[in-house]
Amino acid sequence: MPSKPLQHAEYDDIADEYAASKQLPFRTAVEAPTLFNLAGDVRGLAVLDLPCGDGTYSRALARRGAAPILGIDLSSAMIERARAAERQAPLGISYRVGDAGGLGIVGAFDLVVASYLFNYAQTRAQLLVFARAIYANLKPGGRLVGVNDNPRTSLDRYTSYAAYGFLREIERPRREGARIRYSFFRPDGTSFGFDNFWLAPQTYEEVFAEAGLAGFRFVDAIASSSKGEDWSEFLRDCPITGFEAHRPG
Ligand SMILES: C[S@@+](CC[C@H](N)C(=O)[O-])C[C@H]1O[C@@H](n2cnc3c(N)ncnc32)[C@H](O)[C@@H]1O
Repeated sequence: MPSKPLQHAEYDDIADEYAASKQLPFRTAVEAPTLFNLAGDVRGLAVLDLPCGDGTYSRALARRGAAPILGIDLSSAMIERARAAERQAPLGISYRVGDAGGLGIVGAFDLVVASYLFNYAQTRAQLLVFARAIYANLKPGGRLVGVNDNPRTSLDRYTSYAAYGFLREIERPRREGARIRYSFFRPDGTSFGFDNFWLAPQTYEEVFAEAGLAGFRFVDAIASSSKGEDWSEFLRDCPITGFEAHRPG
């Protein structure tokens, strides 16, 4: 873990609101099925959830039989939420505050779940640091899966997703490191948000190969709605994407 103190994390200020946003239909009907479809059968797998946020997916993975699970996040407020949930209903998950960019070796995992990590890299060099950290913590043959802001979308898909509860805007021109602003609507009409950063799809492909992670590919989001909703418009040139790669055995 890094020896220098961690800076104030952006999510410390929005931990409660971000956690509440995990209940939005696009998350439960698209984000989660996309992630779990990529993860496959996780029973008995040692999992690193990086970043774990409030532990939403760590808990879901534990309920699906993964163990042990370690969740790490830069935001102490997010980790405190995750630990509170663990105290209330123990699932055997460990949580730590930490920076994916200064991770070191925290274990040897069968699966790393990186849900919205890579879109925090502002440069190719930062993306490479994240990818190398994951490589170092995977067992040979271990897999990386996750969801991410979708860097493949056309420029007209940085727009209002009001029907789904958020806005997605990008700094123009779209270039390496361009800022992507997500704003989520509160029930009173005000909003809160956070920034992601755009790197070209080719940068992702090159950087993962450079880090030694094989078979990196983006995987289109899927929907699974028990309520019979039509997600086709959201899935068209979708703002979020799945991805996968592995550490060669
Ligand atoms: C959009 S949230 C996603 C959280 C969780 N993966 C989920 O899907 O609910 C992004 C998280 O990334 C964390 N984060 C951002 N940069 C990080 C870094 N360098 N190392 C660890 N966590 C980071 C933030 O604190 C925040 O909790």
